[in-house]
Amino acid sequence: MKATFLGHAAVSLSDGETSILIDPFLTGNPQAKISADEVEANYIVLTHGHGDHVGDTVAIAERTGATCIATYELALWLQSKGCDVHPMGIGGAHDFPFGSVRYTVAHHSGGVGELGDRYVGNPGGVIIDFGGKLVHHAGDTALTYDMKLIAERFAIDLAFLPIGSNFTMDIDDAVKATGFIRPRKVVPVHYNTWPPIEADPQDFAAKVSERTATEPVILAPMESVEI
Ligand code: NI
Ligand code: MN
Repeated sequence: MKATFLGHAAVSLSDGETSILIDPFLTGNPQAKISADEVEANYIVLTHGHGDHVGDTVAIAERTGATCIATYELALWLQSKGCDVHPMGIGGAHDFPFGSVRYTVAHHSGGVGELGDRYVGNPGGVIIDFGGKLVHHAGDTALTYDMKLIAERFAIDLAFLPIGSNFTMDIDDAVKATGFIRPRKVVPVHYNTWPPIEADPQDFAAKVSERTATEPVILAPMESVEI
């Protein structure tokens, strides 16, 4: 299975047959090198309603017919826009033909729409079982001790964690989160898209190597990691 970073917090997972997009914010994303018209998707998984995560979901779902997996209120909003949806709740999991999706706790907020002021429930992170490989995308979140619960139950192969601060964890908190979640590999996301979230991924990688057993992987947009 190949995980490709699309810029900001957008990730594409593919096994050559099934494509899963996570938080496909491409239009208006200064880091994006692929357009919403080009990406493939059988499923779109959303962590929360903010524009830099929902992004092009409605247009991509319309073109590809992808099923949108989201927390309940966000799923209803997407349904009102014509999307085929599968609503879920934090702490819940569901089996799909490719594996499963489970929502994890994220400490953040969650509005949607033009002004971002339509509240659409709690934000989350996700653990995606894709053909037996476990990928964790933390969404936007603060550091939380709850992250330890993930490692108690699951052996995460690959984690995507925000490091940009201002809206989410900063580098030191994300390193601590890596120690809690104990993934085999960790990829920093949600940084350097705009001035308020400037962060040095090399600094994150060095601290992860120094303080945890996880292998840090820095991906430029359109770069992939095979797991
Ligand atoms: Ni957000
Ligand atoms: Mn965000």
